[in-house]
Amino acid sequence: MERTQVGIVGAGPAGLLLAHLLYTEGIDAVVLEARSREYVENRVRAGVCEHTTVGLLRDLGLADRLDREGLPHGGFSLRFDRADHRIDLAGLTGKSITVYGQQEIVKDLIAARLATGRGIEFEAADVALHDLETETPRITWTDAGGTARELRCDVIAGCDGFHGVSRPSIPAGVLTAYDHTYPFAWLGVLARTAPSSEELIYARHERGFALHSMRSPELARLYLQVDPTERLDNWSDARIWDELATRFSVDGDFTLREGALVEKSITPMRSFVVEPMRYGRLFLAGDSAHIVPPTGAKGMNLAVADVRRLGPALVALLRKNDSRPLDCYSEQCLRRVWRAEHFSYFMTTMLHRAPNADPFTDRLQHSQLRYTVSSAAAATSLAENYVGLPFD
Ligand code: FAD
Ligand code: DHB
Repeated sequence: MERTQVGIVGAGPAGLLLAHLLYTEGIDAVVLEARSREYVENRVRAGVCEHTTVGLLRDLGLADRLDREGLPHGGFSLRFDRADHRIDLAGLTGKSITVYGQQEIVKDLIAARLATGRGIEFEAADVALHDLETETPRITWTDAGGTARELRCDVIAGCDGFHGVSRPSIPAGVLTAYDHTYPFAWLGVLARTAPSSEELIYARHERGFALHSMRSPELARLYLQVDPTERLDNWSDARIWDELATRFSVDGDFTLREGALVEKSITPMRSFVVEPMRYGRLFLAGDSAHIVPPTGAKGMNLAVADVRRLGPALVALLRKNDSRPLDCYSEQCLRRVWRAEHFSYFMTTMLHRAPNADPFTDRLQHSQLRYTVSSAAAATSLAENYVGLPFD
């Protein structure tokens, strides 16, 4: 049987960053990932890094490429009723966000991990967790070569996302789940073209929400609200561009630049939280414990925020036998999680058009949008949540 201090399930932002934090403190960890390296490095997902996320990556010496290639943004536009309204993030909060693809962060973290000489067990199949309520939990799996393996740990970190094995390994009745689904999904595309605007545009239109974002000066990232039952086959490139052009239409100077679509996907929208984020010696972090609809750009940032607490708490246990920080882990994380849940719900319900929306809801959305862009207090509230609230 193999032995490590922390068994980490999942090589997404949460698992990889935790492995690095632990490495810098001299704690041994093994990372198991169900997919291949190529797959995780090319999975197109989040794009917005809160200033707190960027700060942590810089502190750990992991932000060289992010600082070179990331796009700092001091504001974004709320577009509705054919007009743009800028939310001046930097002016309102003194802080900004950075647009840098999640898969770029994942690439940087994988490179940093491999540079330490400690690998990642990619393509780990049949991962199963055992003895979680004891002080020596175990992980079993079949490795990429087909060999059955077993790892004894002091602690397991469940960083395996919403569909992972960690959360379902906790016995029924232990967790309380809070679940909310929305009657929307996002169709996301990556387009080989210069972005049509320097800043992000969150557009609310009668036909539904649309988002204009980017990855680089040559690559635009665009999203359309669609029905959750929609299939990609129904969306030809021409239909996608037509719909984007309609939803981004505005009185004033704006041309939607088109280009070849190199990636298309549909993601359902959901809010989900489990409490507590712990069972015995298993600690959940990131999407394995909570997900948010993407409108507030919080998912990856929350995963990073969890790990920022979990890393030092594990160090306290494993170095000084002090379990107090781990005992507070779930409660402290959940405070930030629920704030982000509310913010994401707020952004989602303000900007999306429900399928049969009644005129009352429509009026409320407009009122909220107008208030947000006309009151410094309301705009500041949105901005401070968007850039990332400070840690207490
Ligand atoms: P994941 O990134 O899901 O990583 C989990 C890893 O575990 C995966 O690599 C998976 O393959 C692996 N795994 C799963 N099961 C097993 C198993 N049984 N054994 C071993 N490994 C396993 N967030 C933002 O902050 N800003 C945004 O702008 C944003 N936009 C988004 C846009 C879209 C379209 C989507 C889909 C998401 C967006 N998010 C955004 C959310 C963000 O991508 C996630 O919250 C983030 O990936 C969570 O990181 P994680 O490490 O917890 O989980
Ligand atoms: C992106 C994704 C989001 O969910 C968001 O709110 C802003 C930007 C992006 O992928 O660039």
